[in-house]
Amino acid sequence: MKTRKRLKKQVYVVLIVIIILLIGIVFGVNKYKEYKYKQTYEYKLLDHGYSENEVNKLLNKFNDEEYLNYLLNEEKNSTIIDLIECKYYLDKNFYNYINYMKENTDLNAEEIVRNINIHLDNDFYENTITTDTSLDTSMLVNKYYLLNSEYVPDDLVNVSQTYSWGEIGSQQVREVAYNAFLDMWNAANEEGYYLMINSSYRSYADQESVYESFKRTSGERYADSVAARPGSSEHQTGLAIDIFSKTNTNKNTFADTEEAKWLAQNSYKFGFILRYPEDKVDITGYSYESWHFRYVGIDIATYIYENDITFEEYYAYYIEK
Ligand code: DAL
Ligand code: ZN
Repeated sequence: MKTRKRLKKQVYVVLIVIIILLIGIVFGVNKYKEYKYKQTYEYKLLDHGYSENEVNKLLNKFNDEEYLNYLLNEEKNSTIIDLIECKYYLDKNFYNYINYMKENTDLNAEEIVRNINIHLDNDFYENTITTDTSLDTSMLVNKYYLLNSEYVPDDLVNVSQTYSWGEIGSQQVREVAYNAFLDMWNAANEEGYYLMINSSYRSYADQESVYESFKRTSGERYADSVAARPGSSEHQTGLAIDIFSKTNTNKNTFADTEEAKWLAQNSYKFGFILRYPEDKVDITGYSYESWHFRYVGIDIATYIYENDITFEEYYAYYIEK
């Protein structure tokens, strides 16, 4: 009897010890899990003040720990979530967006992303880059991306006098753009419009005289709003054409003509974009030019037309990256 009782007691003791051990293990595991969770970016970001929704967005966007660590070292800022959700957000510009955002609190996230992507945080002609001409019809030439004075396209062709005034040879464009122009000319002509080219390829030296002439007569500020400084004109690429109609070559009134409206609505189908639209002056740095069309190919032209962006924005996101 006595031995049985002792045995029972021992069993109880063992059971109690096991239970205590189990409780200890469960407690320990939970503590460890908690410790581990506190090491995660999810916990740290929540602890830093970001909402669950914001944390999810940040974690989905950034595989790179560098950016997450940066965010944890900075004050919580929900505009950063707006930035990463912008359609044209580029990872490589992350720090530039943030610094620019701090200096320009009046701008929204879209404007911050756009301006940084296309270098608008610099003054025009400041920190210029040499145009990558190997990109061919996708090359960018503007107030930040400049061509060398020696650059001359090697496939210029003469524009027929059917489509331009003056001597044969006085108007030249790159072959690819000319072929597209002819298709466009025919399509316009079928609708009763007669398009005419009045400026096309211009050498570096030609552009210099165009620009200098404006500068001499109207000052630098005005010259910069209507003409490119030498090296920064698309006309040097042989891919830009100033298109008017047979009956109107007036820069002040062409925009109101049926031909200008037709061109604005249809040129993308042939690979041309209206390069300096009325509502993009701040981006392009040029006043509205209802006549200046740039050949970029049908795919790019269609995207730009349908998404109502400039070539600068397209280039930053899809070509340069
Ligand atoms: N008028 C355009 C901007 C040029 O000079 O190239
Ligand atoms: Zn032009």
